[in-house]
Amino acid sequence: MSHPQSTDNPNPVNPHFQDILDQARLSRRKLLMGVAGLSSLPMVPGLALASGASPTPPASLSFPAVAKTIEDAVSLPPGYRYEVLHATFDRMNSGVAPATAAGREADDGGQRIGDHHDGMELFYVDAQGRYSPSPTDRAVLCVNHESSADAHFLHPNGQTSGGVSGKKFTQFGDWDLGTRPADEVRKEILLHGVSVVEIRRGPQGWRMVMDSPLNRRITPETAVRIAGPRAHISDIRSFMSTRWDSAGAMSRGTLNNCGTGTTPWGTFLTCEENWAMYFGVQGGAPASGKDAQARKRYGLPQAAPAAQAKQASSQGWHTVSATDDRFSRWNLAQLGANAEQDFRNEANTFGYVLELNPVNPNETPAKRVSLGRFAHEAAVFAPAKPGQPLVVYMGCDSRNEYIYKFVSAAVWDPRDVGGGISVGDKYLNEGQLFAARFQEDGTGEWLPLDIRNPRVAQFAGYAFANQGDVLVNTRLAADAAGATPMDRPEWGAVNPRNGEVYFTLTNNSAANRAPGKTNAANPRAYQDVDGKKAAGNPNGHIIRFRETQDRADALGFRWDVFLFGAEEDAGAANLSGLTAQNAFSSPDGLWFSPTTGICWIQTDDGAMTDESNCMLLAALPGQVGDGGAVTVHNKMVVAGVEQTASQPTFVGQALGVNRLRRFLVAPKGAEVTGICEADGGRTLFVNIQHPGENTKALSTGGTLESQWPGNAGHGPQGRPRSATIMITRTDGGVVGL
Ligand code: FEO
Ligand code: CA
Ligand code: CA
Repeated sequence: MSHPQSTDNPNPVNPHFQDILDQARLSRRKLLMGVAGLSSLPMVPGLALASGASPTPPASLSFPAVAKTIEDAVSLPPGYRYEVLHATFDRMNSGVAPATAAGREADDGGQRIGDHHDGMELFYVDAQGRYSPSPTDRAVLCVNHESSADAHFLHPNGQTSGGVSGKKFTQFGDWDLGTRPADEVRKEILLHGVSVVEIRRGPQGWRMVMDSPLNRRITPETAVRIAGPRAHISDIRSFMSTRWDSAGAMSRGTLNNCGTGTTPWGTFLTCEENWAMYFGVQGGAPASGKDAQARKRYGLPQAAPAAQAKQASSQGWHTVSATDDRFSRWNLAQLGANAEQDFRNEANTFGYVLELNPVNPNETPAKRVSLGRFAHEAAVFAPAKPGQPLVVYMGCDSRNEYIYKFVSAAVWDPRDVGGGISVGDKYLNEGQLFAARFQEDGTGEWLPLDIRNPRVAQFAGYAFANQGDVLVNTRLAADAAGATPMDRPEWGAVNPRNGEVYFTLTNNSAANRAPGKTNAANPRAYQDVDGKKAAGNPNGHIIRFRETQDRADALGFRWDVFLFGAEEDAGAANLSGLTAQNAFSSPDGLWFSPTTGICWIQTDDGAMTDESNCMLLAALPGQVGDGGAVTVHNKMVVAGVEQTASQPTFVGQALGVNRLRRFLVAPKGAEVTGICEADGGRTLFVNIQHPGENTKALSTGGTLESQWPGNAGHGPQGRPRSATIMITRTDGGVVGL
């Protein structure tokens, strides 16, 4: 979704000059050493990273590029078609009525497809109903439902707040104080989380299986287990004690689920992103001490707002009831004598990667606290190598936040495939979390987020009590360690050919990026030439890195910028030489097809939407270092004065239209997010999130910006709905080739 950035890092800790020198000295040594070197274990150097099954991408893309468009439709190249698999409010079970006019369905306890489709993963199922690592005609599709930010579509007359119905407000702060109606809030809560549906392939393609025992919703109310390293789990749980579970061993649900991941053993990872903005404070004393420091760093409210003021970040869910804890849990106020008597700690139970078993509804999902707490965008594994640790890459999506990786203590055993959540306990609890520092010389290093790291232990900004504190307050630990603040890290993806890791950096504002406020890894500061004239790094870029000696658990890497988003007429800011056929802005979703090796890029843009709706592009990348060193000449008007500055950096080879092409343009107001494939790349699943996002309150005369997918023949005409689409070639060939 278009993020309000209420949790932006307001004071990025810039590395001190002496620190840079120290780190540079260290990194020269560490570049030759893996994580195993830390514990003096021998390391096997030079093992090839790419597995034998890596795809060979074509030399050139052959589909005709789709033109920029602001039509309210899904636009595809000739020879391609799409169908809707499911949309918000569609039923999964025949016990509830079919979706009628969007927005009119009553609360039915979470038996419908959720709202704001986001990341998704597909898991094949064998004849016995078990996870199958190889393709079958039966699968489970897990789809994240990021938010109900366009909740004015969800109720017959729009949202109600301050006793007035028919309003449009979002969790971005535009609601009036007052008690919200329980029925609206229940509906909004239950449309969050994850939908898990069985799909089967027949002569007409893939279809949802109504009433499958595998169909289920994970919502913000589903009971989940808090999991972490054995030595620190009791410290972790002490941060999560609430009136609902004073032991902090369990928590309720998952929230604002954005990107996803698939584990090498076949479970689903769902990532909690902008969870902070759901909380409010009503009553009680303001937060103080370390609690106040931590809340500030995560953008959480500290105190009740003044009378008649608006709570800066909330949908008002907490206002429904002070006694029914389905609602009062969203109130972070200190109301009781201690944390066991209220929900002051409830926000500590969100911000994690949640693991669930797609093929076994009886397994309790687990929150993997060892992977840190932040605005988790997605979680992507390096290719699993037998006998080596597993590595997960993750981004924290707010301005000036960081890129992270987790390295497991256990080494990969392929016999663990299909073992479910208990295998997750083996690999995702014990291990080391790191944050990335990108040096100006094109190298980088991984900084351990560990209480034994003196920079963490001696941090002036927050006194960490123990390693549990480090894991729960990860952003502060990464500040302490000296990670590089980035232009909003979104999804990561790993090139299966060579193990190189790609991260979208979707954009940054003029306040953060002006000439003189750049660094080599976030090198641009400019203003759009026309349209919305956004400034800073309005179009974003994609960074990539290759780990030292191709070991995913290395402590060092080399990086360059794979692509810079830009409009084709952006002048010096168009550093990747984009044309009308491949101009894009604000890259967000990112994924390599294991079949074709194509790197698919999805956008969530507000900067060039005067020219084109959001889009999906196909790219054929080279490798880190295939371009070279360049100097970016930044120019921007700041407070009426033109500023200029030069910023050296490293860029990949320009791809040209043969290796980068627009493949899809979304309906109006939608972002394109979530992508996976089935049947050997012949079906591409893509999510269309929040069509019609810019629609004003319907009750005050707002007209629908989008009527998709009703206008494309799926479900009732009228209000727009988020949806999963399936793209195929009319000749049955592989998508993208
Ligand atoms: Fe949920 Fe950062 O997109
Ligand atoms: Ca333009
Ligand atoms: Ca995203």
